[in-house]
Amino acid sequence: MGMEIVASAPGKVTLFGEHAVVYGEPAIVASIDKRVYVKCKPRKDNIITISALNLNVPGIILTIDKDGEIKLETDYGKVLSAVSYIKEAIKLTQEFLDIKYGAEITISSEMPVGAGLGTSAAVAVTTIAAFAKSHGYDLNLKDIARLSWQTELKVQGIASPMDSTIATYGGFIYLRYDGKDFEFENMKGVGELPLVIGYTRRLYKTGEMVAKVRRLINRYNQLGGDLVKLIGRVVELAKKALLTNDLKTVGELMNINHGLLDTLGVSTKELNDIVYIMRGFGAYGSKLSGAGGGGVAIGVAPKRRMREIIAALKLIEATPIETSIGGKGLKIGKLKT
Ligand code: PMV
Repeated sequence: MGMEIVASAPGKVTLFGEHAVVYGEPAIVASIDKRVYVKCKPRKDNIITISALNLNVPGIILTIDKDGEIKLETDYGKVLSAVSYIKEAIKLTQEFLDIKYGAEITISSEMPVGAGLGTSAAVAVTTIAAFAKSHGYDLNLKDIARLSWQTELKVQGIASPMDSTIATYGGFIYLRYDGKDFEFENMKGVGELPLVIGYTRRLYKTGEMVAKVRRLINRYNQLGGDLVKLIGRVVELAKKALLTNDLKTVGELMNINHGLLDTLGVSTKELNDIVYIMRGFGAYGSKLSGAGGGGVAIGVAPKRRMREIIAALKLIEATPIETSIGGKGLKIGKLKT
């Protein structure tokens, strides 16, 4: 019974519309070519084992104390968080398909987990697809995306379907979510988009940043609502600019989107530094991407400027991530043994 399966799913960047998407405005996300891999071997009992090969966890700290003792710390919180997504994803898949058996899961990631690159959703998507398939079930993409979103909701309490949708389908996705249901379109016409990503240590969780924005909006009711609506308008214009491959306008709209996110209180000095370094070294435009409070910022730049931007990011100790975007979503295959 069962077979050994390997599945992979991409991380993502939010090109436009984060935070406002929580209030019913549209957003545009793109897959990146960094992936999460899950190998799943079914078991004949109900035990689940998880081995994390390499979760690319940032922030390994090496300290040598006064006695010359070397201490190595890593951000175990992020590793444990990835494991809790796997556990929940399996539980929901077992319930959905009435599977009574467990599995041996091995996971690895080409990008840092918990950085705002959508790794939680990619972990959930790959686990659900690989677990189901290894027990002989072919789940369709819609069910995989839905179960993955439910996993995120269970583990983190609050989540739009943005990350689970892009991890499942890949490409460029325009999505609108009304707090209950959502609809999305795959923006097939988007041309090449030279993107640079800078990463800085993330200090706050997504839920905390979403709550911060909620407080601001509640305090300044009408004004808060207007800011969110303005982001929605930026997204609509960005959609047109992306589909006509008008990179200058895409960049300018990123600048406007970043200004509005900063106004909502989700940027940090480190993120602003990345954003301004990118612009200073020739990007058409740049913005923070994702929940903010640290994490990633993105920029669109002429290809000839990329090397310089990456060198400048290193100088301010932001980690550059070089990647193309818009690639394939979930991939799943049998493991040759
Ligand atoms: O940083 P991330 O990948 O967790 O992005 C969160 C995006 C938000 O719009 C702030 C929240 C959401 O669930 O859409």
